[in-house]
Amino acid sequence: MIKLPGLIDIHTHLRTPGQEQKEDFYTGTQAALAGGFTTILDMPNNQQPITTLDRLENKIKLAEQDIICDVGFHFGSLGDNLLEFQNVQEMVFGLKLYLNPTTGNFLINEEKLKSIYEAWTGNQPIILHCEGETLPMALEVIRQTKKPTHIAHVSSAEELSIIISAKEEGLPITCGVTPHHLFLTDIDGQKLGAYGYMKPYLKTQEDQDFLWKNLDSIDIIESDHAPHTKKEKGSDNPPFGVPGLETTLPLLLTAMSQGKLAIADITRLMFTNPKRIFNIPTDEDTFVEVDETEEYAIDNKNLFTKCGWSPFNGWRVQGKIKTVFIRGIKVFEDGKVLSKKGSGKIIFPRP
Ligand code: DOR
Ligand code: ZN
Repeated sequence: MIKLPGLIDIHTHLRTPGQEQKEDFYTGTQAALAGGFTTILDMPNNQQPITTLDRLENKIKLAEQDIICDVGFHFGSLGDNLLEFQNVQEMVFGLKLYLNPTTGNFLINEEKLKSIYEAWTGNQPIILHCEGETLPMALEVIRQTKKPTHIAHVSSAEELSIIISAKEEGLPITCGVTPHHLFLTDIDGQKLGAYGYMKPYLKTQEDQDFLWKNLDSIDIIESDHAPHTKKEKGSDNPPFGVPGLETTLPLLLTAMSQGKLAIADITRLMFTNPKRIFNIPTDEDTFVEVDETEEYAIDNKNLFTKCGWSPFNGWRVQGKIKTVFIRGIKVFEDGKVLSKKGSGKIIFPRP
């Protein structure tokens, strides 16, 4: 057995309020525990984007009744809510901005980006969805404003090379990669169809190899857990996104058994760095025990996420999550969630 600190996922989409057919705070946090995550941060691209204090407070109230692990929130902006920043800067772990089109109506341009950067005066990082051509533009704004920024889900060799140079230049940036970009390529995408459809898109084998080769330059592994129903995925216009909370750790433990990374990398990428970069409160009696030798197949049937599917369905993995403890209390054991709905805690950044 290996004991790991309770893992942190800074990038999840739990969908409440408004899209509870995909996921809700109860099913989403069950999926978190089943995947060894005891702390998750929820993104603001809800049906009604979380861009006001009111909407944030409403979301927190709804979460309180349902969650079973620690949950914190990110705020959103379309450039028209700059005065709200003051009211929420101490309540949220980050400000999430979208520079490329994706799920939800969130897109902003360069001019708006600049005004948002100037208005965000809190300590917590700005998180950017900026793929391809929007990355250099964003780096220019970071160069001018010097605001700590986390670049989410870096997926290509080109993007990661640009980020490595920007870090060498001294820009205050960190970056994350997703498990799907580490374990799937565009070839898998052809077989998966809509179930392999997300933003950023799956990239080539060369891109994936580059991410693995430069793991030391990556700060965080973030699941980008983005559940959508099978019905939505089967439609003519399937939405972007795949679930990831329950499969990230088993996939990484499998990669560890193949010598692709060490347990210290898993701790760094999914606990130490997220904790430090996002000022996340943690606890010594919150931990996960895994059997690093146990083999099993990922099976849609056994998932807690409401969407009920995974792009990794059928994959054989080595490394099983056995027990999860939060503040000394056993909350998950042998495939069963033990805690009561609403027993989780809303968290805020450490001052
Ligand atoms: O694939 C994605 N799904 N990428 C995003 O940026 C948003 C997410 C979602 O909310 O479904
Ligand atoms: Zn996302």
